[in-house]
This record gives sequence, C-alpha cells and structure tokens, in this order.
Amino acid sequence: MAKPKKKKLTLAEKADKFQCYQKSVQTPEHEVEFFEQAYREANGQKIPVSLREDFCGTFAVCCEWVHSKPERIALGVDLCDETLQWGRDHNLVKLSEDEQSRLRLLEQDVRKRNRPAVDVLAAQNFSFWLFKTRSELLDYFKIAKSNLKQGGVMVMDMMGGGDCYQEESVDKRTIKKGKKGFQYWWEQASFNPVNADASFYISFKFADGSKLKRAFEYHWRFWTIPEVRELLEEAGFSESHVYWEDDDEESDAYGTWSRGTDAPSNPSWICYIVAVK
Ligand SMILES: C[S@@+](CC[C@H](N)C(=O)[O-])C[C@H]1O[C@@H](n2cnc3c(N)ncnc32)[C@H](O)[C@@H]1O
Repeated sequence: MAKPKKKKLTLAEKADKFQCYQKSVQTPEHEVEFFEQAYREANGQKIPVSLREDFCGTFAVCCEWVHSKPERIALGVDLCDETLQWGRDHNLVKLSEDEQSRLRLLEQDVRKRNRPAVDVLAAQNFSFWLFKTRSELLDYFKIAKSNLKQGGVMVMDMMGGGDCYQEESVDKRTIKKGKKGFQYWWEQASFNPVNADASFYISFKFADGSKLKRAFEYHWRFWTIPEVRELLEEAGFSESHVYWEDDDEESDAYGTWSRGTDAPSNPSWICYIVAVK
C-alpha cells in the first residue's frame, strides 16, 4: 500500500504569532532609550535603574532593560500565562544568567501594588485602553502611581488622527521581503462614536498567500490625550508631558521625540505621554 503523502504545511501554519508580533510592533532598544530620555528630562541627569513593565506580554522590553546596564532590574506584569511562558522560552533564555537574575515576572492583574517601587513604569502599545470607564482608568493610574518612587515616570503611548476613526480600514506593512518575509496588517474594524469603543485586529500574511487571520484582537476605548492627562492629574501625578515625534529627516528610523504643547492634526499619529510622580 502506498504511504499517505504528508501534507505540506503553509507558511502561516509554520509561523509563530508571538515571533511575528515582536518583529512587527516592538523596538525594545528604542523604548529603553526613550525611557532614559523621559526620566532624565523629569529628574535632571539621574539614570533610571528599576523598570516595571505593565501588560508586559512576552516582556521583550524588560529583557532589553536588564541587558542595557549591569545594575538595572526589571519587573514584568501580565495576567496571561501562555504569553509569559512564550517569553520565558524565547526571550529570557537569550539573556545571561546575571541578566536573568535581575528580571522578575508576576502573573497578575496590573492593578496591584507591588514592592519595591520603581523609577520607570511603562504601559505600552495602548494596553491601558482596555480600561473603558473614567473610574477604571483612574483606579489604574492611582495604583500605577503607588508603584513608582518619588520622581519616577509613567510612560504610555497614544495614537489618534482622523484615519483612526475610519471603520474597516487596514494598514499593511511589509516586515521583510522574500520567502521569509511577511506582511503585518493592522485592522481598525469598528469605532462607535457614542462611547468611543473600538475594535482592532492584527493579522499576518505570508509569501505563499497563507494568513494568520486576526492573530491578536483588541477591544478598547479610544481615549484622547486631554482625557488621559486630566485623569493622571486626578490620580495625583505632579505633571504630565506629551512627546511628539520631531519632524527631522536626519533622525534614525525610530525618530526623536520632544515635549510639545501643540502638534499638527495629522491623519494618523502616535505620541508618548509621560507622567511624573
Ligand atoms: C497589547 S498587549 C501588549 C504587549 C506588550 N506590552 C507590547 O508592548 O507589545 C496587552 C497585554 O496585556 C495583558 N493584559 C490584559 N489585561 C491585563 C490586566 N488587567 N493585567 C495584566 N495584564 C493584562 C494581556 O495578557 C496582553 O499580554
């Protein structure tokens, strides 16, 4: 009897969604550089030592932090066991023993007070948008503040612009060309103007035409910069600053960022908010 033919797997079937995510949306070296700048601009010349990464996922930023200086320590917080485990298997193992010993992970809700307090608390990739009401977000900001040392900074990113209110729009980017490359699709599926609820999906498309459809999904409230800054003030942060990307053609691929009080109303923008305790 003839042997049954092995089914050839598609590139999507062979792909790892976390690997694709990290390649598409994360630049940990740039994040660490920005945290240093934000801390320096809030605290004179002091260099931050401790980091808490809320919603850390595969904690790539924590790994870069402990790698960047021998005295640095990091705490990653996320409630998804599968995601944290992927990070242990793929990111943590790439660190030296000493670097690993300076990184701690907690599988828990970010709305918990932990000690020791830190110099920098990061909540990246719009993750805090999952808190959809003023009272939930205020509660989170109060706890985040209690997890910071005096003078510490909380760093968040924000997006906006007219294009972000378009339903069923997909932004496509090629991550790497050729057989090993793939496309990253950021889909803005819905936006409800009544309560600002919005749904987003990340998909990946490969060179053989196969897809990892809606590998990640997010159901968020589309917060605005002034709403977030007012809540930070209510939570007791002493000041907050908006960092906008400099319009500088000479700057590197990640751009440079400066504090600003007004900005052009671009159809699509990303900025940082830095709150100081
Ligand atoms: C958008 S991902 C962000 C991953 C990573 N921080 C990044 O910058 O790419 C959101 C992460 O938040 C985690 N998460 C959602 N709600 C949470 C909560 N209440 N407490 C802790 N983690 C939470 C999810 O498990 C997921 O890993």
